[in-house]
Amino acid sequence: MTVPVILDCDPGHDDAFNILLAAAHPRIELLAITTVAGNQTLEKTTLNARRICAVAGIRDVPIAAGRDRPLHGPRRTAADIHGESGLDGPGFGTGEPVVPQDPRDALALIRETLLAHRAPVTLVPTGPLTNIAALLLAHPDLVGRIERIVLMGGSTGRGNTTPAAEFNVLCDPEAADVVFRSGLPVTMFGLNATHQVRATPAVIARIAALGTPLSRLCVELLTYFASTYREVYGFDAPPLHDPLTVAHLINPSLVSLVRAAVTVELNGTHTRGATVVDLHGVTGRPADVEVGMEVDAEAFWDLIVEAVRVLGTPSG
Ligand code: BDR
Ligand code: CA
Repeated sequence: MTVPVILDCDPGHDDAFNILLAAAHPRIELLAITTVAGNQTLEKTTLNARRICAVAGIRDVPIAAGRDRPLHGPRRTAADIHGESGLDGPGFGTGEPVVPQDPRDALALIRETLLAHRAPVTLVPTGPLTNIAALLLAHPDLVGRIERIVLMGGSTGRGNTTPAAEFNVLCDPEAADVVFRSGLPVTMFGLNATHQVRATPAVIARIAALGTPLSRLCVELLTYFASTYREVYGFDAPPLHDPLTVAHLINPSLVSLVRAAVTVELNGTHTRGATVVDLHGVTGRPADVEVGMEVDAEAFWDLIVEAVRVLGTPSG
């Protein structure tokens, strides 16, 4: 059985690897890619999605641009982590990538894809939740077409962009609030889980050993990502957050899950954008979110290395 998926992303180094994983693995049926402003402006994240698909030979997946700012509040980017292009490291050249941009708006592409597919589809947001919230607000009738939402965002503990808040949720807390309160099944992979999958020199060496143009590009991406994580956070190796989502869909036992109530702090003086995860059931709120906890990092990296191998070797 394959899992039909729409990726909503802001590439972004780790988003890029999630696209590769979703496109490469036979268990995932990648129906569409939509982009949102986050790691960089919408124009740049959209160009980056097209660039990654071009270099990886992903030609049959429509890519559409969505919202260029949050539902409320200021726009922010993560240029300190992902660079001015949003995908710094490799030289992509200055020309337009060969993969075209779908003329539809992201919401139209998601809506039409949901309506056209034979079965409910899993939404996988790995950027700010603006597009997904806008979709749910504009088209509540689509809820029955959505199987579940499997997202990267938040944390059971501390944040990375403020001491309390993780980047994707902080970019658009009101959108995250809409998603967590949507009544849809939501699975959240936050920093507490994603920080367990670090692209160590050993991992980068495994990808380098594949010896293909795609593997060289992936090494350049990870090397750049490692440098900014070292500078900004003092990490020995950078966490490859976003692909935990698709890795979970491929292998549900790769990350252990607990059920908890999750609320998004919208008003805190110092804590806006924090995900308040009630791991001990002390609030009495329904434990309606699945929260990623312990990760089998080795199994995760096996999936990533295999994806780069498969897409780098067109005959498989
Ligand atoms: C999240 O923020 C972005 O910079 C990454 O792409 C990831 O989705 C981690 O906080
Ligand atoms: Ca992202």
